[in-house]
Amino acid sequence: MTQRSDTSESIPTTGSVQLVPDPRSLEVLGRNHTLEAALAELVDNSIDAGAKHVLIRFVRDGERLVRLLVVDDGSGMADERIDIAMTVGGARSYDDGEIGRFGLGLKAASFSQARSVTVVSAAANADAVGRRWHLTKAKQDYRCDIVDPAFAHALLAHDWGFPESPTGTLVRWDDVKGFPTVASPTAVERFLQSAFAKIRAHLGLIFHRILTRGDVRLLIDVEDAGDIVLRTEVPALDPFGYHRTGAAGWPKRIQVGRGKRKLVLDCHIWPGRANADEFRLDGNLIERQGLYIYYNDRLIQRGGWNGLCHADKQLNLARVALDIDGDVEQVLSLKPEKNGVEVGPAFGPSIVAAASSDGTTFSDYLDHARGTFKEANKRRRTRQPVLPPGKGFAPKLRRSIGRELPLKNEDPIEVRWKRLPDADFFDIDRDGRILWLNKRYRKALAGDRRGGLNDLPVIKALLYLLTENIFAGQNMGPRDKDNIEVWQAILTAAAREEAE
Ligand SMILES: Nc1ncnc2c1ncn2[C@@H]1O[C@H](COP(=O)(O)OP(=O)(O)OP(=O)(O)O)[C@@H](O)[C@H]1O
Ligand SMILES: [Mg+2]
Repeated sequence: MTQRSDTSESIPTTGSVQLVPDPRSLEVLGRNHTLEAALAELVDNSIDAGAKHVLIRFVRDGERLVRLLVVDDGSGMADERIDIAMTVGGARSYDDGEIGRFGLGLKAASFSQARSVTVVSAAANADAVGRRWHLTKAKQDYRCDIVDPAFAHALLAHDWGFPESPTGTLVRWDDVKGFPTVASPTAVERFLQSAFAKIRAHLGLIFHRILTRGDVRLLIDVEDAGDIVLRTEVPALDPFGYHRTGAAGWPKRIQVGRGKRKLVLDCHIWPGRANADEFRLDGNLIERQGLYIYYNDRLIQRGGWNGLCHADKQLNLARVALDIDGDVEQVLSLKPEKNGVEVGPAFGPSIVAAASSDGTTFSDYLDHARGTFKEANKRRRTRQPVLPPGKGFAPKLRRSIGRELPLKNEDPIEVRWKRLPDADFFDIDRDGRILWLNKRYRKALAGDRRGGLNDLPVIKALLYLLTENIFAGQNMGPRDKDNIEVWQAILTAAAREEAE
């Protein structure tokens, strides 16, 4: 008796049946998309169509959000093209540099968020066309509605608040699943506030290279009973946007493989205790360390080590930029949701074996990034604790003082303006922990800027550094008194100079 479970190489068949996918599959297509990731898919398409402007518009009807529109001034689609566009997996050929690849994005993104998606479009020298997928209807027999061309034309001809264009595309989502379900203005406002923040952060990051080049402008707004409110533009958010490298000699480039299998890793180290928006991103630093993978300049992975090492806090400063223009055989392939790559068996070993031109390996890089992190924290721990800065110091300034120096758990030093009796620039009230600045110089120093509570951060920061230990000491010695005299004389002369 043979132990093999199958006895023949080929499988005998007796005919075939056609099994059309159940339309239910439409609904599960983009299940793991968030709203902002789904919108990124639509923006991908607009960018591929050469759009200069893309507008994301929430349409509000008082206490409800009713729909969402994404409008662009790209090259648009004519009749034949729009049917392929609405087809799940619809195939076309792609030019070099395009973000599209799978023929899924529009459908997956739309059905992950809405029960109905309408696309209207106008290409050069062609009439406007439109199609609509409605989930309940599609589920019966995959039938897609043809939108009245006159309606499509009128929609596109609307003034969208960017320069008029003869071509363009509009995608409209109705019955959006994630919108607040209760009719309440506060619920709508809260929703919009958080959606705007997420969309700005996500799209600003994903498309930062394209935005920085100025190829396209991404706009978001809300239409409320015909009025346009809250219009903002998405700013680029560069995850490598530090002002100064965290470690001398970095970034370094490690090249892996050759020819079609070549990967180029640009290994960066952020400065210790960085706090810029570009560093913090969504605040989840452990997940934002690692590989930043760009497919035709569109970020498709924002952090993660893909098995190269374990994420840990000490690697928070390590970010690696990796550019690809397609799948790399045996090494990595794109995921259809464009939110990461799958790595193949050759990925890890080839990177571990490689080195930069000066002989630095990937594991040296990780050591350096950890070292920079530890060093930065160690230095902070050995610094003398100081009195915290209080009112009058801008919040960002307070935070950055707190990051550099350990703060004592005591009353803070305030800095305030008042008219001092004579020409002195400042006065120190040790008991009240107030650093007074003479109001008579305020205007001269602040110039045309508005003199708010947190004005003149540079001068305040310098004075804080100078005087903190005067406030902190038990009592003032002769040395302290003399110092104050010197500072007073020099700063008063400087302030008078400024005032003249
Ligand atoms: N805003 C648009 N302007 C012009 N053509 C568009 C637009 N949106 C979609 N299309 C057309 O519809 C097609 C299908 O879009 P879809 O996002 O579903 O797939 P894709 O972009 O081809 O591939 P991927 O799944 O990688 O996104 C696109 O290839 C494009 O031809
Ligand atoms: Mg696409």
